[in-house]
Amino acid sequence: MTNDLQPVRVAVIGMGWMGRVHAQAYVRVPHHYPEGPALPELVAVADDVPGRAETFAARFGARTAATDWRAVLDDPSVDAVSVTVPNFLHREIGSAVLDAGKHLWIEKPVGLTEADAVAVAEAAARNDRRTAVGFNYRNAPAVQAARALVADGRIGDVTHARFRFFSDYAAHPDGALTWRYRADRGGNGVLGDLGSHGVDLIRYLLGDIDSLVADTAIFIPERSEPAGATSGHQLATGGRRGAVENDDFLSAQLRLASGARCVLEASRVAVGEQNSYGFEIHGTEGMLRWDYRRMGELETSLGESYQDQPSTTLFVGPGSGDYAAFQPGAANPMGYDDLKVIEAQHFLRSIVTGEPEGATVADAVFSARALDAMTTSVADGRWVPLRS
Ligand SMILES: NC(=O)c1ccc[n+]([C@@H]2O[C@H](COP(=O)([O-])OP(=O)(O)OC[C@H]3O[C@@H](n4cnc5c(N)ncnc54)[C@H](O)[C@@H]3O)[C@@H](O)[C@H]2O)c1
Repeated sequence: MTNDLQPVRVAVIGMGWMGRVHAQAYVRVPHHYPEGPALPELVAVADDVPGRAETFAARFGARTAATDWRAVLDDPSVDAVSVTVPNFLHREIGSAVLDAGKHLWIEKPVGLTEADAVAVAEAAARNDRRTAVGFNYRNAPAVQAARALVADGRIGDVTHARFRFFSDYAAHPDGALTWRYRADRGGNGVLGDLGSHGVDLIRYLLGDIDSLVADTAIFIPERSEPAGATSGHQLATGGRRGAVENDDFLSAQLRLASGARCVLEASRVAVGEQNSYGFEIHGTEGMLRWDYRRMGELETSLGESYQDQPSTTLFVGPGSGDYAAFQPGAANPMGYDDLKVIEAQHFLRSIVTGEPEGATVADAVFSARALDAMTTSVADGRWVPLRS
């Protein structure tokens, strides 16, 4: 490691699952990217649950722990902030981070609606700060390989595609009624939670969305309120029952600007499906298939046969995305947290260079616009065009 790396002092607000993953990612960046250009130092963490910030500050070596997130913004030594709080706080805290002159790495979906995402994007623009958004599946080297194959025309013209985001994290009827299930806190439910990843991947791989029609459903209409502070997807039994206010399931058909047709399905109540995320992309000459759970494998059917053309498994390796920062040779599996290290590196490099890199709040605005259009489509029972 050279000594001329640019120090970037970072903080994390919201020390739940994602807060821990962001904190770990910052700590690991110098291990995987010794050439820099940034040298992150985690200096502060905040969480409103008493004691939670102190616990994580001690674990990650941050010198400051706060229960009030504003203390992080008042600290002049902090250059950049991760915002990993529940969705309903994204707009307020994300905009405040930027207005305090700090760079922002914020989790998806960036608020509850397109208006929230736009407000954060406007704060970034007026303060000329860099942003990053947690659309981490883009960073998988196999997804990078798929993007290159599509862009190079290796599967011909894309005709149709399916994107699937199935999970069981809300499948248990005793899953606690946390912020995720409240309209004013978790927004549109599985749309923002998993659908946002799907929309971003579709745009990233296949280009803009022209119009869409959607259907949604709530399959578990009531849950028990938790007794105390929550983190992640915990169970609660016996508490007062309350209504689930946002969707468990999404099914959408999309017409892409290229003319290709696309199906997006997302479910948080799919029993038997754990992180079953992926896509199939069909073109006039070939096919690509990816399953997140086999992150390093890309199934490809390439050639000139059209009919009876075999498919084969490509194990990604150095040369695909940022794979080489993690493993020296193909077929060494990477993990979810590695995708966040890549995201952190893109964010830190964008701070040093001043150039946007990776997914930014502009991408979150497009994603939120598509999700809002899905809500409109469900309410009106019609195809909805998307503004570009
Ligand atoms: N990119 C991904 O793959 C991915 C995965 C999971 C979650 N997320 C996103 O990350 C965000 C957080 O999700 P999570 O699963 O980590 O949730 P979580 O409930 O585990 O953590 C949220 C944390 O924020 C804290 N918090 C709440 N209000 C606060 C406040 N006012 N000030 C400071 N801290 C506060 C909570 O105490 C908790 O520790 C959500 O927006 C979610 O959509 C993204």
